[in-house]
Amino acid sequence: MQVYLNNKLVPRAEALVSVFDHGFLYGDGVYETMRAYDGVVFMLDEHLMRLYRSASLIGLTVPPDMNQLKNAVYETMGANSLKNAYVRLTVSRGYGPIGLDPDLCEVPTFVIIVEEMKDYPKTYYEQGISAIISGTKRNLRDAINPQIKSLNFLNNILAKIEAKKAGAYEAIMMNAAGHVTEGTISNVFFCTDDVLCTPSVGCGILDGITRNIVLGLAVREGLTVREGEFTKDDLYGAKEVFITNTTMEVMPVRQVDAVRYGVGEVAKILHKVYRGEVRAYVTNVKGSGPSLWGYE
Ligand code: PDD
Repeated sequence: MQVYLNNKLVPRAEALVSVFDHGFLYGDGVYETMRAYDGVVFMLDEHLMRLYRSASLIGLTVPPDMNQLKNAVYETMGANSLKNAYVRLTVSRGYGPIGLDPDLCEVPTFVIIVEEMKDYPKTYYEQGISAIISGTKRNLRDAINPQIKSLNFLNNILAKIEAKKAGAYEAIMMNAAGHVTEGTISNVFFCTDDVLCTPSVGCGILDGITRNIVLGLAVREGLTVREGEFTKDDLYGAKEVFITNTTMEVMPVRQVDAVRYGVGEVAKILHKVYRGEVRAYVTNVKGSGPSLWGYE
């Protein structure tokens, strides 16, 4: 396996970062998780734009040329001969003396890891996953804004630990005002009789790229969509619940705490049209010119 580290590809065993890296010392950095289908990274521009946004919100400089980043992503996929891949791009503050001051680090550390995309178990989609509402609250927007996709993931990890202890797969976090926010690595949707609901960005969530696509597709499918503030009772009272992210796409939730839901039609339909959207995207990118690394 080849890893892209700073300006070059290196074998996995040599892909090492200093213990003085501020990503390691302080969780000071940002990242993106992407998914490649048949050699094409889905929504690459959107992910890179979000990386730039996260970096800018913490005053971190990422290589400014987007084409350079795209080439690095495709070069890493090519070096590993991967077409269906999990792609993680990480940028940390870099190597520097101990101390919080970001100016102690001169050069950010830049890493791309690609791995073969392992499908989630079929049962997750057929029967749904289980979730809890965690006691761990989502970070306040004016503490660590959840719109920063940062390496500082302890908030989510604490919620995940709670989920694991309860034998659940995902934890849904509330904000300090008692409104539903999101899962540890996913956005949350639920359906009432005729409305598809999801917490608004103002509740303190990462505005997931999958979430945005799903919202658009839902409108296209004729659903009424409501982004807003919801309580856990709204969630408990829902007809169906599902979560979304780049790797899981649209995944039904069969249970939140003690409340059970049917694996509903809405999640199934939206997953199907989401897959269609992915296929159209891949075809479009392939049709738009020579590939970056030659996936033909
Ligand atoms: N996580 N909310 C949180 C807290 C997330 O970490 C993620 C993504 C999402 C969904 O975002 P998107 O649809 O853009 O993937 C929402 C990725 C998958 C991760 O951490 O690896």
